[in-house]
Amino acid sequence: MPGVFQLSPDEIVVEARLAFEAGVPAVLLFGIPDVKDERASGAYAPRGIVAQTVRLLKKELPELLVITDVCLCEYMSHGHCGLVEKRGSAVRVLNDPTLKLLARAAACYADAGADIIAPSDMMDGRVAAIRQELDRGGHLETPILSYAAKFSSAFYGPFREAAESAPHFGDRRSYQMDPANAAEALREVALDIQEGADMVMVKPALAYLDILYRVKAEFGLPTAAYAVSAEYSMIKAAGAQGWIDEKAVTLESLLAIRRAGADIIITYSAVEAARWLKSNK
Ligand code: PBG
Ligand code: ZN
Repeated sequence: MPGVFQLSPDEIVVEARLAFEAGVPAVLLFGIPDVKDERASGAYAPRGIVAQTVRLLKKELPELLVITDVCLCEYMSHGHCGLVEKRGSAVRVLNDPTLKLLARAAACYADAGADIIAPSDMMDGRVAAIRQELDRGGHLETPILSYAAKFSSAFYGPFREAAESAPHFGDRRSYQMDPANAAEALREVALDIQEGADMVMVKPALAYLDILYRVKAEFGLPTAAYAVSAEYSMIKAAGAQGWIDEKAVTLESLLAIRRAGADIIITYSAVEAARWLKSNK
């Protein structure tokens, strides 16, 4: 991904400081462990890469909001978001046994000081499982930002390459949403809210503005939209070719996401956009 790198904790502090100074209020962390296995151990190791980085960030930049993505795919040797059972060539993602591991990861990040927990795995019941585990650990006031309507999208390609998290077999269609099915996405959002989500997310953003609009209109919760890796990379690539005005297209895209109802935008353009918006004033 152009301009996107895997960073060590000390490098993240430097980048996060620049972002904060540019006017970006929050960061979303994704971890890539040294070793991947079939139980995603790196996701919930107390001294794992995300927990370590959260501790450091909260120490160095206490005012920067730290959101931790919760998923297992970056930590799994096979790249799926949950535990996998293989029978011959048939592969099944095991929903319920995965919940415990997700809840452990969430508690581990909250223990480290994460401000917001953001599960992106799309297992059924994970918001309830995470809420219960957070409460049990005394994190009664740590909010959950749920990737509630996360579609099974080709727009995640560049991220999977950057985060080394592409599934080695099969695809994510058994747990992520069908891009054709808006009603199902709305039902998923309703379920996550029932389970205790404090904020909900729609992902990707630009190709799903109708969903974003409907989620905000129907539920009224603080609503996030994630402008994903291919949305960003396509603009970067066309900008580099001189085919589009990169700054204008980026800002117009963000504006459209905001207009459709997003209260929060997660974007790889955050630092650049913040600087552009400041210099326009
Ligand atoms: C992990 C995760 C993904 C993204 C965010 N969290 C990849 C996926 O679900 O395959 C995609 C982000 C992006 O494309 O920018 N579950
Ligand atoms: Zn995942």
